Amino acid sequence: MPGIVIVGVQWGDEGKGKATDLLGERTDVVVKFNGGNNAGHTVVIGDEKYALHLLPSGILTPGVTPVIGNGVVIDLEVLFDELSALNARGVDTSKLKISANAHVITGYHRTLDKVTERFLGKRMIGTTGRGIGPAYADKINRVGIRIQDLFDENILRQKVEGALEQKNHLLVKVYNRRAVTVDEIVDELLQYRDRLEPMVADTGLLLDNALDAGEVVVFEGGQATMLDIDHGTYPFVTSSSATAGGASTGSGIGPNRLDRIVGIVKAYTTRVGSGPFPTELFDDDGEKLRARGFEYGTTTGRPRRVGWYDALITRYATRINGLTDLVLTKLDILDDFDEIPVCVAYEIDGVEVTEMPWNQSDFHHAKPVLKMFPGWKEDITGVRRFEDLPINAQNYVLALEELSGTRISVIGVGPQRDGVIVRHDLV
Ligand code: GDP
Ligand code: IMO
Ligand code: MG
Repeated sequence: MPGIVIVGVQWGDEGKGKATDLLGERTDVVVKFNGGNNAGHTVVIGDEKYALHLLPSGILTPGVTPVIGNGVVIDLEVLFDELSALNARGVDTSKLKISANAHVITGYHRTLDKVTERFLGKRMIGTTGRGIGPAYADKINRVGIRIQDLFDENILRQKVEGALEQKNHLLVKVYNRRAVTVDEIVDELLQYRDRLEPMVADTGLLLDNALDAGEVVVFEGGQATMLDIDHGTYPFVTSSSATAGGASTGSGIGPNRLDRIVGIVKAYTTRVGSGPFPTELFDDDGEKLRARGFEYGTTTGRPRRVGWYDALITRYATRINGLTDLVLTKLDILDDFDEIPVCVAYEIDGVEVTEMPWNQSDFHHAKPVLKMFPGWKEDITGVRRFEDLPINAQNYVLALEELSGTRISVIGVGPQRDGVIVRHDLV
């Protein structure tokens, strides 16, 4: 019966990959429902470290059927590189299934992503440059190329021609780049067709059947609530539905099949790329958080912006996603602070508010109202039971729980698979 959704609460990199991996042994099917290779999930299993971008993290558990849903945009070169790298390390990927309705990212999407960013200048989004935005734009604009198009060369050629008609004007006349030929794109895509064919399936039907058969299906979200195209800090967002609603539309099952919605939230906050970030730190504490938490992007290697925990964001994410549980990650990174501030309200132009402002300009002006919590100054990485945490760490967790309105079911105290304290089972 259970359909379990994993979503990021903040601006990504909360530890979603580890959370999915944690559910691994009880999972039958794992489906990625949004985004593409803009994601970067690091999973540590024993001495082995895996960095996944396009494939769902559940692929690392033997026996699990990994699925790439219709809501994902696929760079086929990245897909096959990632599969080969995993195979070389002995990971069985033979059960992977891919939606025929997923869209592909091609060369012109990657080029457009980079040139539009350059043209935005100071207003740049700070994208990962993987072609994500342009591929979703084509999808919404109804000039995208889908996985299924690769299996009819005539249709593929027609669609690429249609897409390039506009693109080449844009590339040549606006961005001063060279035109792209239909042949080069068709050839780029067709080289993957034969390898792709056995993986393509009606994934919505597959998921529905799995749920009917009582299997555990995990819906693995990329990015996070504050990067969601509708609910995030637009325009400084990604181009997909990263919130729980996206699990339904991005995988082709009804919303009533989703039993549990688990938000993954870091014990502090990070952000990669541009955009507002009320609790951002520019001082020594920020440096310390970045160094202790090793906050550098898995995908682009960029240093992540860091700040204190923001309770308004978690409360907002609780509401937008309908969270049933929280996984609080990286509590161990706070081990060495005398005092730990938490943002409990914003001051906006002299007025204190406790809800996320609907007006983006207000969010840009928001000053965090901080409440201080005493630190615990003790290594908690070996702790496995909540009662064994230092009392100040327990109180910090209980305060975050109270402020968010969602129970904290799992607490992360280290990057390893077993570096967790489980208060309530997720399955
Ligand atoms: P994702 O994009 O949400 O999957 O997260 P990332 O993998 O980009 O970033 C999370 C990082 O934190 C990874 O390097 C994880 O190995 C690491 N991590 C996850 N949970 C914990 C934790 O509880 N403690 C520590 N120290 N590291 C963690
Ligand atoms: P995971 O799944 C953190 C950010 C980019 C940029 C904005 C738009 O690892 O949490 P895009 O390339 O998607 O058009 O970039 O979104 N971004 C992420 N930040 N974690 C991610 O994924 C991200 N995916 C995109 O930095 O600000
Ligand atoms: Mg990440």
